Formats: sequence, structure tokens, C-alpha cells
Amino acid sequence: MRLDVVTLFPDWFDWFASQRHVVNALAVGHELRTLDLREHTPLSGGQVDDTPFGGGAGMVLRVDVMDAALRAHYGVDPVDLRRQRRVIALTPGGRLLDDRLVDELAQEPGITLLCGRYEGFDERIVEHFASDAVSIGEYVLAGGELAAMVVCDAVMRKLPGALGHKDSASEESFSPALEGAPEYPHYTRPAVWRGHSAPAVLLSGNHARVREWRREESGRRGAERLEPPDDGR
Ligand code: 6GU
Repeated sequence: MRLDVVTLFPDWFDWFASQRHVVNALAVGHELRTLDLREHTPLSGGQVDDTPFGGGAGMVLRVDVMDAALRAHYGVDPVDLRRQRRVIALTPGGRLLDDRLVDELAQEPGITLLCGRYEGFDERIVEHFASDAVSIGEYVLAGGELAAMVVCDAVMRKLPGALGHKDSASEESFSPALEGAPEYPHYTRPAVWRGHSAPAVLLSGNHARVREWRREESGRRGAERLEPPDDGR
């Protein structure tokens, strides 16, 4: 799979690309590339953003700058690009990222993630270049880069070859194997820590009972999550 990130801060992704599951995924042929928005800006002085029409705080990423960056990189008119690959605008108002969407993206041959900064994108970027708008939660980040890393992290660890153990990504939180519920709790040595024991069933060597206990715990956690504490909002 080829993941491209369009950003004003390509070097932020150097750290991300050094994470082990990312290194593993790259080693088996997957690709993670960054496109520097400033590199192809048609404006002088490396300008990429502008003040919002109608007034208001902050700056808005310009549509002509995104147009030039995508055109330079892909060699096609960017309004046609989304017919070839998923082009995802990262924006707090987008579709909430969940395991289902991550699975969907992990099946794609290539995706392009567009990072906004400051007050975000000119809306025409979302309307004309993006196939999807995605948010990672109901709060506002200063830019799309951290959200893009979250998407890349979640997608890349699903790719064949990214995780050490072949089953590591199948029976995990929110997966179909656990019927969408969070994962069961894990324990390791010491078996007793300050008087707190790991559940005896896990030490029993009875694999059928272990499986049953894990399924129950996962289901119980799933039911608890449906009733979050009410803070009045
Ligand atoms: Cl994708 N972008 C920004 N700027 N803030 C966010 C977000 C994305 N998802 C949640 N908050």
C-alpha cells in the first residue's frame, strides 16, 4: 500500500516513520511518503495560506496551493485524482475514524491524506479534491498532521508484515473477531504484585476456559462502554 501525506510539516513524519510497525511495513514494500505543500506553491515567498473571506480569526489553506502540490506530485488534474485513489481531507467535521473505516482504508492500494493547518482548508479543497473527510474525534487539533499520523498508524498496523505475530491484529479491540467490543485485559509476570493476583484462569493452562473468560471480559467491557458517565453535555 502507498500512503501519501500532503503537509506543511513533512519532517514531523520522520519520527513516525521510525516506529517499528511502520519500519516493518516499509520493509515488506508498503510506502509512506510526504509531499511538502510549500515546495510547489505558485505564490511568492512560500505562501500557502490566506485570510478568510468574510473576516474572522486565523488563516486558511489556499485551494490553488493544494491544486499545484497534487498536480506536481501525481501529474493529473487533482479533481480527477479521487477517482483513482481515496483522497482524505483531515478535518474535525469529517466522518469519525473507527475500526471499520481503518479496515476499509487498509484494503486500498493507495490513499492520500490532506493536512490542513491554522483554521483549516478552503472548503473547495474538500469539495473538489477529497473523496472523504475524516476526523479522529470531537475536539479540535491545531492541524491535521497528528490526525494523519493516527490514520497512518491504525492503517499500517493492519497491513500484512507490520506486526510481529500474524494474529496480532485480528483478535483485538473493536475487531469483528470480538464482535466490535474492546479487547479483554492482559496480564504478565509477576503473577502476584503487591498482593494483586492475575486471574487464576489465565494461569490454569486450560485454553478453552481462557478463551471463554476472554470473550466474557470483552463483552462486559463493551457493555460498560455503551453507558459512559453523564456530565450533562
Ligand atoms: Cl482530522 N483535524 C483537526 N484539525 N482537528 C481534529 C481532527 C482533524 N480530528 C479531530 N480533531
